[in-house]
Amino acid sequence: MAEEGMRVGVLTGGGDCPGLNAVIRAVVRKGVQVFGYEFVGFRSGWRGPLEGDTVALDVPAVRGILPRGGTILGSSRTNPVKVDGGIERIKDNLAGLGVDALIAIGGEDTLGVAQHLHENGVHVVGVPKTIDNDLNATDYTFGFDTAVNVAMEAIDRLHTTAESHHRALICEVMGRHAGWIALHAGMAAGANVILIPERPFDIEQVVEYVESRFRTRYAPIIVVSEGAHPIDGQMQLQTGELDAFGHVRLGGIGQRLADEIEKRTGKEARATVLGHIQRGGTPSAFDRVLATRFGLSAIDAVREGAFGTMVALRGTDIVRVGLEEAVKELKTVPPERYAESEVFFG
Ligand code: F6P
Repeated sequence: MAEEGMRVGVLTGGGDCPGLNAVIRAVVRKGVQVFGYEFVGFRSGWRGPLEGDTVALDVPAVRGILPRGGTILGSSRTNPVKVDGGIERIKDNLAGLGVDALIAIGGEDTLGVAQHLHENGVHVVGVPKTIDNDLNATDYTFGFDTAVNVAMEAIDRLHTTAESHHRALICEVMGRHAGWIALHAGMAAGANVILIPERPFDIEQVVEYVESRFRTRYAPIIVVSEGAHPIDGQMQLQTGELDAFGHVRLGGIGQRLADEIEKRTGKEARATVLGHIQRGGTPSAFDRVLATRFGLSAIDAVREGAFGTMVALRGTDIVRVGLEEAVKELKTVPPERYAESEVFFG
């Protein structure tokens, strides 16, 4: 059991997502009120502990933040493993600030660093977050439901304007290498075609779906995940720059598809890129509850000295899994889930 009066650091890393503040609030409220802990907020992801950049984190600081998107701590994609002596600097700064344990809220990259620190003797507990829902060790991450709802509403709106103008409208959504947002938003909003990274698409088949939709006097709506790509050699794609974790910055497939569809069908096709709108704003009720339960469970893990673990959702239960397991494998859309959506194509 960890002792009363201990100091717990909290940070949020990687791309932000709705629900981060709900986690921070739950961690602090239970930590202070139930366990008598003190907290240190670290600014901007791993940059905070790396540079000793802190912010006060007490009960007044977390008042009113439950419905607020973003993160009161700020976030970044700083990778301390890539910084010379980065891990040692973090350890020194934590010791200097009297921080006994750290709660790291983040996705695959942030939790990978947390695992690294754990192997180096730092007391870390992880909380999974990403709108992409691509962490294998948890059934859902908070932020995903909100992103899907934002995308669904946008696609609903695209339907009505597409029909007025008899245009093909393409909606590009986020998700990186996983098609979960595209699959769920596309299914929820009745898209005519959904394209995901897990299944390279055949542009000729896409064009056929588009044409059959026009023949029935409806306007086709295509939802494309930013990481989707055609089968080899069919279309030229852009390549983007890399971030500190080596991920390519995605984007542009929606416009490429629109150009290709226009060229091949002679019908007008336009692309809408939802981008960061999917990550901003207030979390859905589902995400607020999940984030709150993750926060409560994370501070319990600190209390019980369960370091090197991450909280996760299994069915309706919050469980603990090893950080190692959490970052081992990406959760991508399985073929049978994609097949369910294909019934509605065309
Ligand atoms: O991982 C979350 C995510 O929103 C991805 O869906 C997207 O590819 C990426 O982050 C965008 O990153 P950034 O905000 O750094 O452009």
